[in-house]
Amino acid sequence: MSIGGYAHDASGDVVPRSKARPSVVHTDATAAVAADAEIAQMSEADLLAGIDRLRTERDAVILAHNYQIPAVQDLADFVGDSLQLSQQAAATDKSVIVFCGVHFMAETAAILSPDKTVLIPDAEAGCSLAASVTADEVIAWRDEHPGGVVVSYVNTNADVKAVSDYCCTSANAIDVVRSVPEGRDILFLPDMFLGLWAERESGRKLHLWLGECHVHAGFRPEHVLEALDAHPGSDLLLHPECGCVSQCMYHVAEGDIPADRTHVLSTGGMVRYAQTTEVPVAIVGTETGMLHRMRAENQRTDFLPLSESAVCEYMKTITVPKVYRSLRDMVDVVTVPADVADKARLAIDRMVATVPA
Ligand code: 13P
Ligand code: SF4
Repeated sequence: MSIGGYAHDASGDVVPRSKARPSVVHTDATAAVAADAEIAQMSEADLLAGIDRLRTERDAVILAHNYQIPAVQDLADFVGDSLQLSQQAAATDKSVIVFCGVHFMAETAAILSPDKTVLIPDAEAGCSLAASVTADEVIAWRDEHPGGVVVSYVNTNADVKAVSDYCCTSANAIDVVRSVPEGRDILFLPDMFLGLWAERESGRKLHLWLGECHVHAGFRPEHVLEALDAHPGSDLLLHPECGCVSQCMYHVAEGDIPADRTHVLSTGGMVRYAQTTEVPVAIVGTETGMLHRMRAENQRTDFLPLSESAVCEYMKTITVPKVYRSLRDMVDVVTVPADVADKARLAIDRMVATVPA
């Protein structure tokens, strides 16, 4: 396995390249909502009624990711994982898509539906993982592996997708990797933990970019063992971006963590799990927004967070007043330059067409 995304210091040691993580401390959308005379007078009920009226007037569909705050999930027409939201964006017959998620997701919708208007309620809702790789870095990495196939996680900016051969989400990463013709080098980016998982499950050797999501990288195997000790007999659900997945699989092989009660799942997979499980307790290792959806699906099971502090501030910057403003003022429109979109679409189409096995 070779690695990308790291540099060498003066002594030749491998060191991480520092990436500027997007900030959502003061966004333009937050300031605009705070200064908005109409919104200041509106109750939550007024805002929801206004969103309903505008949704019809604008011929809009509201899509929300599973990590959105509960109030935004509850007002959305469809709540899902990255793959499902891309499929919805590609299939909708509405004129306007309001994307309650992070920026790369709205960009993907704009690429898949170039004739629609795609709005994001806060254009600064970024992603630390998408920020961990640039298109120039992918080109340089690809040049080190002539003939290599670039598989990019959907958590990347559009220009990175444009220099990729395939995109995938956590729901279909293993299937996408398996679909690459045998004998080709595969360069998987940017999430190293998802890459390690896909390598293990697909049996294909991958070159990995050493990027990570700051929310999921923090999960440690000790947290898992402590949670399982505190809740004997519970199921364990882990998102494949979690920093502990590989070590947990080692513990599963050693018999310290029960194999039949451990599930590595995309956020959509976690919803499907919630719909059918009968276990009394499930420990959920991902962003805490997931719990609202799972609890809504199933009141029999106690869904507990592996970590209360696993909160994605980018997802949480989308609020009900921002959704109202977005529909009222038709802001912020997400566009992708046509040349970038045309190149990225092939890789994204392969992702949307790959149904998880
Ligand atoms: P899913 O594709 O599983 O919804 O995950 C998206 C994401 O951003 C995870 O951090
Ligand atoms: Fe990006 Fe991590 Fe937030 Fe997902 S949880 S959107 S990978 S920063």
